[in-house]
Amino acid sequence: MSAFIIDGKSIAKRIKEELRPKVLGLAEQGKQPGLAVVIVGDNSASRVYVNMKKKACSELGIYSEEHALPATIRQDQLLDLIRDLNRNPRIHGILVQLPLPDHLDEQLVIETIDPAKDVDGFHPMSVGKLMIGLPGFPPCTPAGVMELIKTTGISLSGKECVVIGRSNIVGKPQAILLLRENGTVTICHSKTENLAEVCRRADVLIAAVGRPEMITGEMIKPGAIVIDVGMNRKPDGKLVGDVHFESACSVAGWITPVPGGVGPMTIAMLMKNTVQSANERA
Ligand code: GUN
Repeated sequence: MSAFIIDGKSIAKRIKEELRPKVLGLAEQGKQPGLAVVIVGDNSASRVYVNMKKKACSELGIYSEEHALPATIRQDQLLDLIRDLNRNPRIHGILVQLPLPDHLDEQLVIETIDPAKDVDGFHPMSVGKLMIGLPGFPPCTPAGVMELIKTTGISLSGKECVVIGRSNIVGKPQAILLLRENGTVTICHSKTENLAEVCRRADVLIAAVGRPEMITGEMIKPGAIVIDVGMNRKPDGKLVGDVHFESACSVAGWITPVPGGVGPMTIAMLMKNTVQSANERA
C-alpha cells in the first residue's frame, strides 16, 4: 500500500483563489488589504520565506511593504517601526519574521504589534483567544495543517491526534486547534518516553520537531494521516521533512510531501488572515 499524497501546493492555490473575490469586493469599497513584513538581519531561510509572502501578496492584489533592517538594529528602533505600522491605515497585517537576532527581545516585539493587525497570531491576545475559542487570527502553520486534514474528509472527532513538538508557533496552537475539532490530543517533546509507541497510537500524526527524517514508518499506525511540518536541509543540500517519507508512505493512509505540503499552506493562511483583517477594518 502507498499513502495518498496530500498536495499542499494545489490546496493552497485553491484557498488563495477563494480569497480573490474578497480582495475584489474590498477594492470596490476603495480598500486594499495591506501587509507589512519586517525582516531583521540576513538569515537566508527567512529571506526565502519573506520573498514567498511578498509574491503571494502581489499575485492576489494585496499591498505589501518590506522593512529589511540590519542585524545591528536597536530594540527601541524596531519597536518604533512597529508602532508606526500599528498607526498606518494602509497596513492591516504586521509580520515580523522570526527568529530575531539574540540581542532583540522577541516576546516584547510580538507584544508591541497591535493585536488587530497580528496576522501571525503570535500576540498573547491572539493566543488567549485561540485557547478559549474566540474568533481571531489563528497562527498560519497550524491553521494550514487543519485545512490539509480537512481535505481527507475524515472527522477528527474522538480520534487519537499526536503532535510531536511543543513550540509556540506550531506544536501548542496545533494541539488547541485539534482539540477544538474534538480530537483526543497528545503533545510529545524531547522528554517524552516511548515516543515510537505514542506515535503508533495516532490516527493523525503531526511532526513539528525540526529533526530531519526522525519519524520512520515503524512509528506510524497503518492508514494514519501524517502531516510533516518539518523543513530541514541535509548536508547534501536536499530539503527533507521530519518524516522519513519513503518508509512512512508504505504505512500511512495520507501523507504530506516536503516541499509542497505544509509550506504553501502557511502562506495561504497568512493571506487569509490579512484579508480578514482588512475586512474587519470597515
Ligand atoms: N518563522 C518560522 N515560521 C514563522 C511564521 O509563521 N511567522 C513568522 N513571523 N516567523 C516565522
